[in-house]
Amino acid sequence: MRTKFVAGNWKMYTNAARARDLAGEVAGKLGSEKRVAVAVFPPFPYLPAVAETLRGTVVMLGAQNCYCEKEGAFTGEVSPWMVADAGCQWVIVGHSERRHKFGESDFLINRKLHAALEAGLRVILCLGETREERDKGQTERVLGWQLDCGLVGIEGGLLPHLVLAYEPVWAIGTGLNATPEQAQQAHAFLRSRARSRFGNAADRLIIQYGGSVKPENVASLLHQPDVDGALVGGASLQADLFLAIVRAALPAT
Ligand code: PGA
Repeated sequence: MRTKFVAGNWKMYTNAARARDLAGEVAGKLGSEKRVAVAVFPPFPYLPAVAETLRGTVVMLGAQNCYCEKEGAFTGEVSPWMVADAGCQWVIVGHSERRHKFGESDFLINRKLHAALEAGLRVILCLGETREERDKGQTERVLGWQLDCGLVGIEGGLLPHLVLAYEPVWAIGTGLNATPEQAQQAHAFLRSRARSRFGNAADRLIIQYGGSVKPENVASLLHQPDVDGALVGGASLQADLFLAIVRAALPAT
């Protein structure tokens, strides 16, 4: 009932030529496959070129971050309206690297989310606990807090424009993915929290898992009832690995 969604977060990798090639290879090999939704998130400077490469294909385009204002004296920042203008349909907000390496607060993330939706973008909101929080038994408290703060002021009607990505911080780029059971538990918690706020509309909410997703581990994660796709970092930089992950997300026929 929920179409799986696989997204490739290229982080601060690639160059102009590599970005075009990677996007072209992914789109070319996917052809007209629509049983799974696919998007790539290149670095800002390559968005227009990748938008051009992806035109007319099934692969969607997004940015990895944006600011929370439309325009102004914000040197070095990128407005979600600019992101949309560059050809993107999506933006990621609240990635753990933004939270932990750049000190982004839940308050700022919520403002970014509002601005991105206002600019007409669809948003992947990332959430996840640190190793220490998990070890202290605080996972649900942290996820609940990040979800509640992230969604302040968001009406249920906007839910179709929103995707959640559960990304345990300890699993990102470490090779230590969450077990399918840990992922399912966190996803079920997030869905029930969303349900208490938005009612049955939460049943259609896509919740991706992210953190060391590889072709070898993705099938068992996607097999979980509340895992609706993957946000892939490292493995999205190689077309064959990323496509293997996408293929694992196809519905069984
Ligand atoms: P990873 O990154 O797949 O390299 O762990 C995931 C992410 O940061 O979105």
